[in-house]
Formats: sequence, structure tokens, C-alpha cells
Amino acid sequence: MEAFVINGGKPLHGSAAVSSSKNAILPIISACLLTTEECLIKQIPGLDDVTGMCELVSNLGAEVKVNGRSRRIKVCARSLTGHTADYELVSKLRASFLVMGPLLARAGIAKVALPGGCPIGSRPVDLHLKGFEAMGAEIENGHGFIFARCPNKKLKGATIYLDFPSVGATENLMTAAVLAEGRTVIENAASEPEIVDLASFLTKMGAKITGAGTDTIAIDGVDKVYGVEHAIMPDRIEAGTLMTAAALTGGDITLTNVVPDHLKPVTAKLRESGIEVIENKNSIRVKGIARPSALDIKTHPFPGFPTDMQAQFSAYVCFAEGTSMIVETIFENRFMHVNELRRMGAQIRVDGRTAIIEGIEALQGAQVRATDLRAGAALVIAGLAAKGTTEVIDIHHIDRGYEFIENKLQRLGADIKRV
Ligand code: EPZ
Repeated sequence: MEAFVINGGKPLHGSAAVSSSKNAILPIISACLLTTEECLIKQIPGLDDVTGMCELVSNLGAEVKVNGRSRRIKVCARSLTGHTADYELVSKLRASFLVMGPLLARAGIAKVALPGGCPIGSRPVDLHLKGFEAMGAEIENGHGFIFARCPNKKLKGATIYLDFPSVGATENLMTAAVLAEGRTVIENAASEPEIVDLASFLTKMGAKITGAGTDTIAIDGVDKVYGVEHAIMPDRIEAGTLMTAAALTGGDITLTNVVPDHLKPVTAKLRESGIEVIENKNSIRVKGIARPSALDIKTHPFPGFPTDMQAQFSAYVCFAEGTSMIVETIFENRFMHVNELRRMGAQIRVDGRTAIIEGIEALQGAQVRATDLRAGAALVIAGLAAKGTTEVIDIHHIDRGYEFIENKLQRLGADIKRV
């Protein structure tokens, strides 16, 4: 079982290029199923989740060529040989559920294992299914599978109101609507940058989409879409994670391959705690200080403070001057990192979806466990600033969403190694 061993107290210095976005590439790989032609996706991140999604689309009949060195993949779903995503895959990679939209659009049939829960919450898919039913699909839920079929293999455009601006439901329904008959309007849609990247990929394929990035997205169905080339947007959460690490270690780093506009809540909160953040066109510089001041944070759908940065900021404010309050409004159980931070001496009380954190001078190094992707990242950040040595175990969670994070951190002067 691999682990990270971190000796804390080294300020981060220098510059690093941020990888491409995990949460942008996963729906884009799935959207390649919409066309019989080859799609070339550039600047792919080397992540376990990307490998998993490539495995899934090839199980469905797509030909996938991965060129790790040139960081490109080619996906060509000339013909689909199946329409089932089994539990073994879906339970490992929840984003597998995103193949339902393209399968329904292309083949009029899909059988996808119900994704179980995960550490951060029960993660229902009711909004996805309600949308597909509104578009004419017949949905059956049995034996752990969702079985969907549309009469005469064609979905019909519909106006769909999402009770919650779900990222996955917006992505699944947007891709399904691309080949549907007529217009689909998704109201109260998610407006995350990853939705905009998916919409630009689909539009290049020939889809007719307006409003991506707002809460109302309209898609006019077309008969056919074509193969395209696309470069994936930078990963705003990896960028935010590295920014927080620099701020907490009192360092001075410059990140390239970032879109400052995607990081406004993170930049605002770091500045509020006393950190200097200098934004350029596609780079961001973060200059840390000895001790940040406490913060109140409430997670919200984009453009609010991202839930995927909540764990990292929980670690950050453990070292702050004063008492911080963090409210997690998106997922019901996203404080798994708290118990591990407590093992490092953090003074945190959790009451439901609220964490109250009394900042202290410094945490002590300890052996801690990554329970999920972002909790793992939070423990790495805490270890970088803690006194002494921290060992983070179960780091396979971290590898799902961060490409060799230890290499990036080593180059920035951190004393971290994978054992
Ligand atoms: C995406 O998950 C991201 N994953 C998550 O990132 C991210 O935390 C989340 O969006 C919110 O921003 C990918 O993009 C692969 P949601 P998703 O549907 O689509 C409820 C990471 O760390 N909901 O917006 O699953 C749900 O229970 C991961 O990179 C329903 O109730 O998120 C949750 O409370 C973690 N019914 C809320 O909406 C539904 O049908 C947000 O879920 C769907 C969702």
C-alpha cells in the first residue's frame, strides 16, 4: 500500500504547470460515443479515473488509443458493441454513469449499474433519470441496474427543470439532447467551467448548444455529429489545492496553465485571510504569510465556493489566527478529513454540515489516512505545514484526481516522497 511521507515546514517556491481537468475530461471521453468518427483529445492528465473511463468506452465498443507521452487519446466509437456499464466499473468510477446520455442518444438503449454511494455522500441520480424520462426514455430500476430505453430509438427534446444544479445531471442530459428530436432546455442547470468545456467539445462536433455556463442551457437536436480535436481545460481544483499549499507554507509560487476566472472564490478567500494573490492572463502567483487569519466559508454550486476545495481549506484554517466556520452545503458527509486532522492536533468541532475550527500555531505530523480524493489532498497540505513528519496512507484516492502530486510539490521545494 503506497503512502506519502512528508516532512513539514518547508515553504513552497518556484513555478508549476497545472494539469488538465479530471472533471472536464471524464464527460468528454463519454461524449465521444455520440459519433462514429474519431475524436482526438489533447493534454490529457495521467489519472486513474481517465484510465477507468477509457476502459469503459472501449468495453462499449469504442477503439481507444492512449499516447501517454504526447498526452493524447484518440477515441473512435465506429460501432457500439454493448450498452452496459457494469457495477464493478461504476462502483470504482461514479462518472461512468455519464455514459447513459450518449448511449441513449446513439443507441436508444442503456443499462448502467446504479452507482453506489461513496465516502462523501449517497450520490443519488434521480435528477438524471427524471430528465431522461422527460425526454421520452422508459426507465426501469432493478437488480442494481438502471435500464433505459427510448421508443423508436430517438429521444425527444423537452424542457427540464433541475431541482438542484447537478453537474452530472446537466452533463448527462446535455449530451443526450445533442441527437434528440427538437429542442431541449435545461433550467437551473449547473454552470461549472467543466460544463462549458463539454459544451465547446459538443459544439465542435456539430451540436447546437447555447447558454452553457449559465443556469439555462438550450440544445437543438441534430441528426449526426462528427469527430473533433479538443484540448482539455486546466484543472481549477488542482490549481486551488496548490495555491492553498503555498499560502499555508508561507511560500511564493507561480502557477501556469490556469484560468484565474475559474478560481475567483479561492482567490477571494485566500486574500481575505491575508494572502497576496497576483492574477495574470493564464498564471497566478501566491505569496504566503506566517499565519493566515480565520475565514468563514460556505460551499455553493459555481460560481460559489467549490465543495471540491472545502477539505483543503479546512486544513488551511487549522493553522489560522482565530476561529473559522465552514459549512458544506453540497454533500452530506464531506468532513471525513476532520478526524484525520484531529490526529494532527487540529481543534475542530463538527455539527451536521458545519465545522468550527479553532486555529492553532501548527499541527503535529502524524500517520493519517486519505478517505477520499479531496480529503487526501487536505492531509497532504496539512502535512506540508505541520511540525515533524506526516505519513498519508491510502493515497490511491489521491492518484484518482491528482497527477503525481508529489512530483509537482517536490519541484516546489516540498519534502515529500511516495513510499
Ligand atoms: C461532480 O460530481 C464532480 N465530479 C464532483 O467532484 C463535484 O464535487 C460535484 O460535481 C459538485 O461540484 C465530476 O465531475 C466527475 P452533482 P456530481 O450531481 O456530478 C445531489 C471530485 O472531488 N444530486 O453536482 O456527482 C448530490 O447528492 C468530485 O472531483 C441529487 O440529489 O455532483 C449532491 O448532494 C467529488 N440527485 C449534489 O446534488 C442527482 O440526480 C451535487 O451533486 C444528482 C445529484
